[in-house]
Amino acid sequence: MANIVYIAASLDGFIARPDGSLDWLTGLPDDGGDYGFGDFIKRIDAIVMGRKTFETVLGFGEWPYEKPVFVLSESLKELPPELEGRASVVGGDLVALVSRLKAQGYVNLYIDGGRTIQSFLARNLIDELILTRVSVLLGEGIPLFGKLPGDLPLKLRKVEMLNEHLSQSYYTR
Ligand SMILES: NC(=O)c1ccc[n+]([C@@H]2O[C@H](COP(=O)([O-])OP(=O)(O)OC[C@H]3O[C@@H](n4cnc5c(N)ncnc54)[C@H](OP(=O)(O)O)[C@@H]3O)[C@@H](O)[C@H]2O)c1
Repeated sequence: MANIVYIAASLDGFIARPDGSLDWLTGLPDDGGDYGFGDFIKRIDAIVMGRKTFETVLGFGEWPYEKPVFVLSESLKELPPELEGRASVVGGDLVALVSRLKAQGYVNLYIDGGRTIQSFLARNLIDELILTRVSVLLGEGIPLFGKLPGDLPLKLRKVEMLNEHLSQSYYTR
């Protein structure tokens, strides 16, 4: 029963450029590895993502997820009809949302999107963090981390060098 982050960030902590672009990540040479994503996605029951990440994913063209997606938004009223049964809009208090989803059987949640992850962290709702660091400094962008009401100590469980561009660290609360 866990809320898990699996995300890539630049060395200076950004998950996208200021305009949301991901070229610094998607343009890396393909070494054929999936960096644990396949195993991770098998473990999770549903994805909770912020509206902005959802919009990025929509821009990919093809819907990439087999697991149900819950889009956090107070502004979106409905999703494109072709996503019916695959994605829905959710909102409100995060603690209440998480307990509602768990009660529906969505026990392990993949939490995605910068602001979304920050607000889950601020409510102490993240149990595991799988952080892939890209060996690049962007100088500016959309930050992975932000303000917290207090320190949030984590335990480092594993660190792996994936290739010269990527390292991956696995933390738990
Ligand atoms: N590097 C990576 O691995 C990676 C992974 C994921 C995303 N990204 C990138 O990150 C960018 C999006 O991240 P982001 O930080 O801008 O936004 P985000 O977390 O994806 O979305 C933020 C939006 O979520 C909605 N929201 C509703 N309730 C919320 C709550 N309690 N806490 C936070 N958000 C809530 C709000 O939408 P409303 O305004 O509609 O209410 C808010 O504007 C995109 O460019 C995406 O490509 C990168």
